[in-house]
Amino acid sequence: KGLKSLKDVYKDNFLTGTAISLRDLEGVRFELLKKHFNAVTAENAMKPSELQREKGNFTFDGADRLVNAAISAGMKVHGHTLVWHQQTPAWMNIKLDSGGNIVYLSREEALENMRNHIRTVIEHFGDKVISWDVVNEAMSDNPSNPSDWRGSLRKSPWYYAIGEDYVEQAFLAAREVLDEHPEWDIKLYYNDYNLDNQNKALAVYNMVRELNEKYQKTHPGKLLIDGIGMQGHYSVNTNPKNVELSLKRFTELGVEVSISELDIRAGSNYQLTEKEANAQAYLYAQLFKIFREYSDSIARVTFWGMDDGTSWRAEESPLLFDRTLKAKPAYYAVADPD
Ligand code: XIL
Repeated sequence: KGLKSLKDVYKDNFLTGTAISLRDLEGVRFELLKKHFNAVTAENAMKPSELQREKGNFTFDGADRLVNAAISAGMKVHGHTLVWHQQTPAWMNIKLDSGGNIVYLSREEALENMRNHIRTVIEHFGDKVISWDVVNEAMSDNPSNPSDWRGSLRKSPWYYAIGEDYVEQAFLAAREVLDEHPEWDIKLYYNDYNLDNQNKALAVYNMVRELNEKYQKTHPGKLLIDGIGMQGHYSVNTNPKNVELSLKRFTELGVEVSISELDIRAGSNYQLTEKEANAQAYLYAQLFKIFREYSDSIARVTFWGMDDGTSWRAEESPLLFDRTLKAKPAYYAVADPD
């Protein structure tokens, strides 16, 4: 009502996105979505546990409804996520041995599960999506030696079952599918959190650089990994200078960058004091100033939800609209960048 549309404010800079679920496709929530956002990410509906809970039995109903509704409303869809250590069915990388113990699948078995999931899901959605998070959160939290990026990988079930090349294998599998469909324009992303931490950012930088350089030896001029998603689950204590440093580092790799899951934790008990609301708004303003400066490299800035009431971090009121969908100081900070 009378508010500036966020997607209009940033139309010359980057796509303005939000995470959504099926409840956002009706009524006032759908109106809010269409007014402010021109890109969506499924908050949960496209995760492995939703799409292939049982081996070989793909369930695309919910995701299809979400994707088709978003596209019909003129929005772009980002795919999240193909390979992750959470919200992934156990059968993909572990099994019970004859003695009833939980063991990891062999490299071959796990690779086949991973590759089949990647292929089936990418082919199903085709170019209804503009980009995919191929691998999510593969790096450990605060690597002590970022130049050893392999040694810095999170010990995820995929890591144990396949080995330290599972990230590369995932991107190769996705790239293979895209190569069979030259008519599609889909970007392949590596996505992670805490990338304002410079140790973690550097480990990711080293990984993406090495995997892309290796790929270019056999595919001159082509990228294996097209983009890096900085999730952006921040708090009012996050230093925007560190966000900027990481943006600078990643753009030097020649990949595109997206802010993929932005929210700023500020209070507790589902409410903000005036001071907390203002501190949150101020950090949003500082971040969007930086995002605008880097808009040549930033494809998309996506919030992890529209309102505090449905946020995964509802208690800490991290978003632009409150539980009644009323605009917060954070909204005005983002909507009026000048
Ligand atoms: C979260 C969702 O918001 C929750 O609804 C769900 O219960 C757990 O996952 N990093 C990611 C997202 O990549 O997929 C996560 O989303 C938040 C952290």
